[in-house]
Amino acid sequence: MYKMSEKPMITAEQIQKRVSELATEIAKSFEFDVILSALTGAYMFTSDLSRALANTKHRIAFIKASSYGSGMESSGKLKVSGMEHLDLKGKKVLLVDDILDTGNTMCTLVSVLKESGVSDVRTCVLMNKEERRTVDFHADFVGFEIKNEFVVGYGLDFNEDYRTLPEVWTLIEA
Ligand code: IMP
Ligand code: MG
Repeated sequence: MYKMSEKPMITAEQIQKRVSELATEIAKSFEFDVILSALTGAYMFTSDLSRALANTKHRIAFIKASSYGSGMESSGKLKVSGMEHLDLKGKKVLLVDDILDTGNTMCTLVSVLKESGVSDVRTCVLMNKEERRTVDFHADFVGFEIKNEFVVGYGLDFNEDYRTLPEVWTLIEA
């Protein structure tokens, strides 16, 4: 059994402040056409980031990447769906995900995008668990560096629960 930590690991205010800083950083260094968001975990981050980038004209698209069967361990096999509906040829893409863990998801998505003929791709994640990395991958824009802990809230789930919380919490053994 698991339960939420007593206090948020990252409060809603801290997230909002960091999102706005990230937007400034991104707007300064990358002129992009489309934000491509990895469902489902990145939905909340994407919507806040996109609003914070409102002065930078862009489109929004979604792709589904799933590697977690259930629970806390990735199955290792990544299933990507939704690319068939997108036309990103020649586009500059900002790929957004909730968290970089082993790196498998982002690394695979970047290859898929390059194969599909995008002209440029940069990556942005809300959180990075550097300790967990198994593939050589670095995101261009990172919100928070975190320890090797399982986190939920602000879009991130444990067996589909906790996604709607506005802050990030640690899940601990009860
Ligand atoms: P990676 O492919 O191992 O880098 O895993 C990235 C994906 O796993 C993310 O898009 C998340 O959906 C999920 N994930 C990784 N760590 C966590 C976590 O601590 N909480 C919830 N989901 C996570
Ligand atoms: Mg995910």
